[in-house]
Amino acid sequence: MKIAVLRETAEAENRVAATPETVKKFIALGAELAVEAGAGAGAGISDADYTAAGATVADRAAVISGADLLMGVQAPAAGDLPGIRSGAMLAAIMQPFAAPERIKGYADAGITALSMEFMPRITRAQSMDVLSSQSNLAGYKAVIDAAEAYGRAFPMMMTAAGTISAARAFIMGVGVAGLQAIATARRLGALVSATDVRSATKEQIESLGAKAIFVSDVKGIEGEGSGGYATEMSDEYKAAQAALVSSHIAKQDIVITTALIPGRPAPRLISDAQLRSMRPGSVLVDLAVESGGNIEHSRPGEVVEVHGVKIIGHKNLAGRMASDASALYSRNLYNFINAFWDKDAKTVAFPGDDEIVVGVKLTEGGAVVHERLKAA
Ligand code: NAI
Repeated sequence: MKIAVLRETAEAENRVAATPETVKKFIALGAELAVEAGAGAGAGISDADYTAAGATVADRAAVISGADLLMGVQAPAAGDLPGIRSGAMLAAIMQPFAAPERIKGYADAGITALSMEFMPRITRAQSMDVLSSQSNLAGYKAVIDAAEAYGRAFPMMMTAAGTISAARAFIMGVGVAGLQAIATARRLGALVSATDVRSATKEQIESLGAKAIFVSDVKGIEGEGSGGYATEMSDEYKAAQAALVSSHIAKQDIVITTALIPGRPAPRLISDAQLRSMRPGSVLVDLAVESGGNIEHSRPGEVVEVHGVKIIGHKNLAGRMASDASALYSRNLYNFINAFWDKDAKTVAFPGDDEIVVGVKLTEGGAVVHERLKAA
């Protein structure tokens, strides 16, 4: 089986879908690895590193020619895969709802598209979960970005010239990214509080040494839908949450928002009036900026200043830590392929009825096969 590792073509995408470590592991399984020249440059991996690991390095057309499985980070358009054979598999982050025409392009080209971010949140798939591996890094990076933009220190410092008080950091949305943001802000010495709509997160927040800020005495407080994800909350809940946030946020220096609801625009958590109530010099980071944004005025890829506070809207935070992000992403991919590896045939064999396969497979045999996409 020939596996092709593509060089990313998306703007400012420095990650890569395989590292020398995973190249060696795939070769140990019996696969042949071909890496597009320059694929690892953004993540600090040279062509020579891949060659030393046992891969061949060539141009895009040569790498794709005869490949059975192509691996990328961000999904390329079908037209950007010269010479891809009908029936080849492509594993990447597909974002099918944002680009349905790209998915149709795969179906038309006979490509079997595997959407890595659709990995089911089940125990067996934890090591293959790209949303978790990348969100974790994003949560860390959000705090580092905030600290860099903040004109003050995070920790309390007692000096001969007097005391500097600790920064107050508020994390909104305590999934994978939010938990890492809490831990990182705590390590830097901030006084950390956090909130979520899923009541299960209360204990997690407290176990990390942060204060849990939660709406109480409102109907439908659980906030948890299928797969451990959040649901859209009632109007009554939203009003109570807004009131709670308003009183809390005016005392915060740093706010990191990570709130997402699968299949819906990100919930609006911070209004213009709430921004106005904050102390000038405060910094907010909107991790949901690419899904519509949690913070009024946040803009994808920009740092906006309103009412004296900065709102950071960097895109692709994990991609700004390309080396670690690539190491984790490429292990997710390896773990996925390895779980379905047929040792005798030395190829990958996806059972059509496996929960993981059903979860990630978008197209096959010239058609869109994923239920959620067909429904959309
Ligand atoms: P996410 O990225 O979908 O959302 C981030 C957070 O925002 C979530 O905690 C969500 O509850 C929260 N949120 C949504 N609306 C909100 C609002 N209006 N106000 C405040 N917060 C709001 O979440 P992520 O990080 O993907 O995690 C979702 C769940 O999946 C968690 O329970 C996590 O533990 C679980 N998980 C399970 C895995 C597995 O079993 N393989 C792997 C990774 C995560």
